[in-house]
Amino acid sequence: MDFSHLTRNHLPALLARMPKAELHIHIEGSLEPELIFALARKNGISLSYPSVEALRAAYAFTDLQSFLDLYYAGASVLIKEDDFHAMAMAYFARAQADNVVHAELFFDPQTHTERGVSMGAVIGGLSRACADAKAQYGISASLILCFLRHLSEASAIETLQAALPYREHFVGVGLDSGERGNPPEKFATVFAQCRALGLHVVAHAGEEGPPAYIHSALDVLQVERIDHGVRCSEDPALVQRLKQSRMPLTVCPLSNVKLCVFDTMAQHNLATLLHQGLCITLNSDDPAYFGGYLLTNFEATFAALPELTVQDAWQLARNSFEASFASDAQKAAWMAQLDAVFQAAA
Ligand code: ADE
Ligand code: ZN
Repeated sequence: MDFSHLTRNHLPALLARMPKAELHIHIEGSLEPELIFALARKNGISLSYPSVEALRAAYAFTDLQSFLDLYYAGASVLIKEDDFHAMAMAYFARAQADNVVHAELFFDPQTHTERGVSMGAVIGGLSRACADAKAQYGISASLILCFLRHLSEASAIETLQAALPYREHFVGVGLDSGERGNPPEKFATVFAQCRALGLHVVAHAGEEGPPAYIHSALDVLQVERIDHGVRCSEDPALVQRLKQSRMPLTVCPLSNVKLCVFDTMAQHNLATLLHQGLCITLNSDDPAYFGGYLLTNFEATFAALPELTVQDAWQLARNSFEASFASDAQKAAWMAQLDAVFQAAA
C-alpha cells in the first residue's frame, strides 16, 4: 500500500486512530504508583517511599539495573489473584484508549513465587484479565511467561514445571531482567524444553548487551522475535541477517532513553533500522516507569525523528500484526482494518 501522498500533518490523527498490537509490555511495568500504594495499603505492605509523589520522583534511572531495583520493589505489593487482575485491567483500559487491538503481555512469575505467591494466583489473575479484556474492550490478549536471566537456569526449569498446569493460559516464553553477564546460552536447555512443548520463544537481547547476545538468542535459543535488539546496528552483518530473515525487533524508544541506551529520542536508531528494511515494531516496555503508554511512544518517536513518514506509521502498525503470535486469519483482518483507516485519511 502506498500512502506517500499523505503528509506528516496527518500523523496525529493516524497514530491515534490506527489499530495496533503491543508485543513488548511487562505487565508489572504498568503498575502506576497510585495502584502500588493502594495495593500496599490493602495488603499491609510497607513501602520505602512516603507518598505517590516521592515514588514517582525516584523514577530517574542511570541504567537497566537501577530501574529493575525499583521495578521489583514495586511488584512486591502484588499478593492476591485479584491484585494481578486489577493491574492488568488498568493496563487494558489504557491500551484501549490507544487503539491497541492485540496485546501480548510479559509477566515475571519468579518475582512473585520467590515471595511465596502461588503460580496459580499469578496466572489465574492475569488470564482472567485477558478474558475480561476481550469481553469488555474487544482487545485480544495473551500471556508470555518470562524467565529472569539473573537467576539460574535451574530456577527457570523449576518455574516452567510450576507453570505447566496452566499451559493453556500462556502462548510463549521470554527472557528478561539484567542482560549484562547473563547471555542467552545460559538458558539453552529450558528454551529447548519450551520449544518442544510448542511454546513460542522470544528473548530480550541487544538492549544493554552486545550484538553477540542477539546472535546467540537466534542460534541457541532459536527465538521468533528479539526484544529490543537496538544494538544490532553495531554489527552490519547482523543487520543484514535480521533483515533477510525478517526477524522482528520489538523496539521501545521511551524505555531506551529512560535507561540511557540512547541519550535522546533524536539519537534513537528506530527510523534507521526501519528504513534499512527490518521488521521493527514499536512498544512501551514498562509504561508506568518510562513516561508513557503505546500512543505516547509513537508520538514521542515521530516528534523526535522527522524522517519518519505516514508510510512508516502504517508499516510499524502492520509489522506489529505481522510479528504477533495471532492466527494468520486474525492478522489479515487487523491489517485490513489498518488499511481502511489510512485509506479514509483525506
Ligand atoms: N524487565 C522489565 N523491563 C525490562 C527491560 N527493559 N529489560 C529487561 N528486563 C526487563
Ligand atoms: Zn522489556
